Amino acid sequence: MQPQLLLFYQSTEDMDLEHLKWRYAVKRYDSTEKISEEQKQYVRESIRLTPTSLGLQPFKVFEINTSEIKSKLKEACFNQLQIIEADMVLVFASYTKISEDHINFHIQNTANIRNQAISSLEPFKKGIQSFVSKLSEDALKNWSSKQTYIALGIAMSECARMGIDSTPMEGFNQDQVNNLLDLNEKDLETSVILAVGRRNEQEDFLARQPKVRKSLDQLFEEV
Ligand SMILES: Cc1cc2nc3c(=O)[nH]c(=O)nc-3n(C[C@H](O)[C@H](O)[C@H](O)COP(=O)(O)O)c2cc1C
Repeated sequence: MQPQLLLFYQSTEDMDLEHLKWRYAVKRYDSTEKISEEQKQYVRESIRLTPTSLGLQPFKVFEINTSEIKSKLKEACFNQLQIIEADMVLVFASYTKISEDHINFHIQNTANIRNQAISSLEPFKKGIQSFVSKLSEDALKNWSSKQTYIALGIAMSECARMGIDSTPMEGFNQDQVNNLLDLNEKDLETSVILAVGRRNEQEDFLARQPKVRKSLDQLFEEV
């Protein structure tokens, strides 16, 4: 049987990953070029559909639309221009604690969506509680933050498939972004940022540069 993914391609010859070769981490966006609400919704959905450990989705995504907050965020991002030039700016904030409420919500949500009795999910709930309780504070923060990177990767890939540009961004002062969005009091902390928009080919020195990557031989090892 053919792998499922082939259903989306006519043949393996079409699987050239052209969109991944086209994308790059954009430094300068064309702020006059907007992306449609439909495309923004597609980005949001790609993040929502991202798989996470135990399905807990231990993060929130803040969409920064207010120009005043954008300008403060830019300062907290070492003045990187993407923050004010890109049409969509998403701050991924990961949970620093997983509360009983968080776990209960997940169990209830699973029961509702899959039409299952809560009691049948008791072993799953115990498993989550046990997993979470064994993590140190730092390990939990690390685990939560890692989940946001899966969403980041999927969103970037989907943006590229739509022919939309994006930039993953770790260049920020975490305390400043946390304060700007009042994250500490919500048991959240800034994990990573994603800017989405249309590249400004004239201004971006990276727009026509070839990709720098290891070869497959350097990156993979058969054992
Ligand atoms: C997690 C992560 C954080 C990054 N942070 C920044 C950033 O703050 N600013 C920036 O301009 N590029 C940032 N980059 C872009 C990388 O430098 C870029 O992805 C890498 O050099 C590969 O190039 P390409 O994405 O253009 O193919 C980041 C990339 C990743 C994956």
